[in-house]
Amino acid sequence: MNILIINGPNLNLLGRREPGIYGTRSFDDFFPELETAFPDLTLSHFQSNHEGAILDKLHEVGFTHHGIVLNAGAYTHTSIALADAVAGIATPVVEVHLSNLAAREEFRQKSLLGRHCAGSISGFGLESYRLAVQWFLNQQPKRV
Ligand code: DQA
Repeated sequence: MNILIINGPNLNLLGRREPGIYGTRSFDDFFPELETAFPDLTLSHFQSNHEGAILDKLHEVGFTHHGIVLNAGAYTHTSIALADAVAGIATPVVEVHLSNLAAREEFRQKSLLGRHCAGSISGFGLESYRLAVQWFLNQQPKRV
């Protein structure tokens, strides 16, 4: 089962960027731990600060991968193009956010992507990604 994690703008700065909100750990530090936690899954990670690059990646994997975990950063609140891409691909997408958007500025409380996603996980720091991957795993038919 292939799952791609896509991180959008500014998430390359994780660990250094506003640590009081986003934590002190980089995604590159966290990712191997995630791979170890899910030995039966093929996990990969893509980060870009560019809307078009994220669109291209969604198109590239959106008809072949089993799942996409997407933290689109600020594009979550602004990008109709990303919302259209999530709506247009076949692969289910789980939206994640490190911070609890409901507790933040009003402009962060609207996600243009959410209605096209299988669900959204927000507020658990890096744990949000683990919960999203776990959801995909739970969808797999169990062997008896
Ligand atoms: C974020 C929340 C967004 O509002 C913000 O623009 C980010 C990170 C989060 O993970 O909490 O870049 O997606």
